[in-house]
Amino acid sequence: MRQERSPAPFFSIRGLEKSFNNKPVLTGVTLDVEEGETLVVLGASGVGKTVLLRHLNGLLQPDRGEVRVRGVSLNDRDEEQLAELRKDVGMVFQLGGLFDSLTVYENIAYPLREHTAWREREISRRVGELLAAVELERSGKLYPAELSGGMRKRVALARALALEPKAVLYDEPTTGLDPLATRKINLLIRNLQRRLGFTSVVVTHDLRSAFAVGDRFALLDGGKVCFMGNRETVSRAEDGLMKEFVEAAL
Ligand SMILES: Nc1ncnc2c1ncn2[C@@H]1O[C@H](COP(=O)(O)OP(=O)(O)OP(=O)(O)O)[C@@H](O)[C@H]1O
Ligand SMILES: [Mg+2]
Repeated sequence: MRQERSPAPFFSIRGLEKSFNNKPVLTGVTLDVEEGETLVVLGASGVGKTVLLRHLNGLLQPDRGEVRVRGVSLNDRDEEQLAELRKDVGMVFQLGGLFDSLTVYENIAYPLREHTAWREREISRRVGELLAAVELERSGKLYPAELSGGMRKRVALARALALEPKAVLYDEPTTGLDPLATRKINLLIRNLQRRLGFTSVVVTHDLRSAFAVGDRFALLDGGKVCFMGNRETVSRAEDGLMKEFVEAAL
C-alpha cells in the first residue's frame, strides 16, 4: 500500500535563537506552519513576537537555528533572493508601515510598480480590486494621515496582498482598534484567507482576535514556544500562562 505523506510545512522553524546586544530574545523556537493554515503567535508585550515574525521573510537573520520556507533555508540568502521571497511572503507591519507622502492608491500600487512591468490600466484594475476587498473603494485619493487606524490597517493589508503572496504575516492587525473595527479586520483576514487559501501567521496578544482568525495557536514565553494547540486544547489549558491568557480574555 502506498504511504500517504502529508505535504511539507510552508514555514519550518528549527532551534531559532536571536539576541540583541547580548540580551537573548529567542532562545530556541521550533515551530511548523502548515500550508494553508492560519497560525496565531500569542505572547506578552516584548516577548519577541515581532522578532520571530521578521525571521519568516528574512528581515532578520538567526544567530543560530534555521527558518525554511517550503523546504528552502533562508540562511545565507542574499538580498536579491530575499527580495524575491518577499513577493511570496507579504507582511502587514505592526504600525501599518504606509508611505505618508503617497495616497492610498499609490501605497497599494507601490509593490506592483516595483515588481511588475504592468501598464497603468492593469495596475489601476488590481488596486481597484484590492480596495474593494478591504472595503475602501472611495478612499484611494486620501493620504494615510487622513485615515483612521482601522482604515490604515486595511490599506496595509491590501498592499500586502497586491502581489498575490502565498503567505501573509500579520503583526498585531487589530491592536489599538475599537471592537467594531477589530471585528471587521478579523472577518476580513478570515474571509480573504478562505477565499485565496494562503498560509497566514498572525501575531497578537489578544486571544479574542486569535480565536476569530486562527486554526492553531502558539504561545511564546521565555524565548521559546511554551504551548501549542488548537482552539479546544487552548480553551482547556491547564498550563499556567496559557490558562492565564484564556482567563484574561473572558
Ligand atoms: N532591532 C532591535 N535591536 C535591539 N533590540 C531589539 C530589536 N528588535 C527587537 N528588540 C528587542 O527584542 C525584544 C522583543 O521585541 P519584539 O518587538 O519582538 O516584542 P513583541 O513581542 O513584538 O512586543 P509587542 O507585543 O509590544 O509588539 C524587546 O526587548 C526589544 O527591545
Ligand atoms: Mg510586536
